[in-house]
Amino acid sequence: MNLTDRPRRLRRDGVRGLVSETTLEPTDFVAPVFVDATTDERVPIESMPGHERVPLDEAVPRVEEVLETGVEAVIVFGIPESKDERGTRAYADDGVVQEAVRRITSETDAYVITDVCLCEYTSHGHCGVLEEHADDDPDLTVKNDETLDLLAETAVSHAEAGAEMIAPSSMTDGMVGAIREALDDAGFADVPIMSYAAKYESAFYGPFRDAADGAPAFGDRRHYQMDPANRREASREVALDVEQGADVLMVKPALPYLDVVADVRENFDRPVAAYNVSGEYAMLHAAAENGWLDVEETARESLLSIKRAGADLIITYFAEDVAASLTE
Ligand code: PBG
Repeated sequence: MNLTDRPRRLRRDGVRGLVSETTLEPTDFVAPVFVDATTDERVPIESMPGHERVPLDEAVPRVEEVLETGVEAVIVFGIPESKDERGTRAYADDGVVQEAVRRITSETDAYVITDVCLCEYTSHGHCGVLEEHADDDPDLTVKNDETLDLLAETAVSHAEAGAEMIAPSSMTDGMVGAIREALDDAGFADVPIMSYAAKYESAFYGPFRDAADGAPAFGDRRHYQMDPANRREASREVALDVEQGADVLMVKPALPYLDVVADVRENFDRPVAAYNVSGEYAMLHAAAENGWLDVEETARESLLSIKRAGADLIITYFAEDVAASLTE
């Protein structure tokens, strides 16, 4: 054997770290936080072990728990006290997210991002205003252009409450432009937008829809979220969001869509975010509970892979556990 090139030389302890191409830091992560206006106690989310919906009074303590692990950013989701056709509580000044953000920004040092969507706030569970007869015609869903005004209003109300970054997730055409314009007009030109730019219609969101009570009452989201079959279309979606002023470009879900993460990294010069979604979290926990794999190891490997594919930041339910293990 006359092998001149032996990659194994660089895999020994001591040199491994020197040649490692990817690292994970607690500051790479954004931790999702669920604030629930319908409860005055913490409620465990069954399909997402370790996660809870917390009442408003627990929003600050919840965020402090996150900060203790070294994670510096949170994304806030709200469960409103009531829902209606037009998702009014999404853009109410005293809405659950607005209240929570006011408290979190005044009492902690967390960097606060808010998810802007209507699905948790509408009685029908869709991400916008419905077309007439949508409930009995599978070809009908959300009115695109009418929804834009409500998203813009929601974004401004979050910024007024103190949100430091706005993350629109409804896959409404033109949402980034509408929100950018509304934020600028309201004096929030410095608030960046992290667009859920390539968001797929994915079955991996199942546990989140339990957590945030946002499952559609009928039909599905395939008329507005992307078809999992499409890769080129993601570049088109992302390019549109860049034109409209998106500051950070998100791909969601993460692990089943690493090709898309890599494409966005390759073809665009903005920071890339990936959302390691609820189903990606739940499946590792479910397997671990059966003794079939080690959740700490697989979580870390998942996040490392998402970064290796090109993500600069990762929204993940593993944020706290992995961050804590990195700084141990
Ligand atoms: C709101 C929203 C969803 C998620 C984030 N924002 C649900 C959906 O689109 O159905 C999913 C997050 C997850 O599964 O972890 N539109």
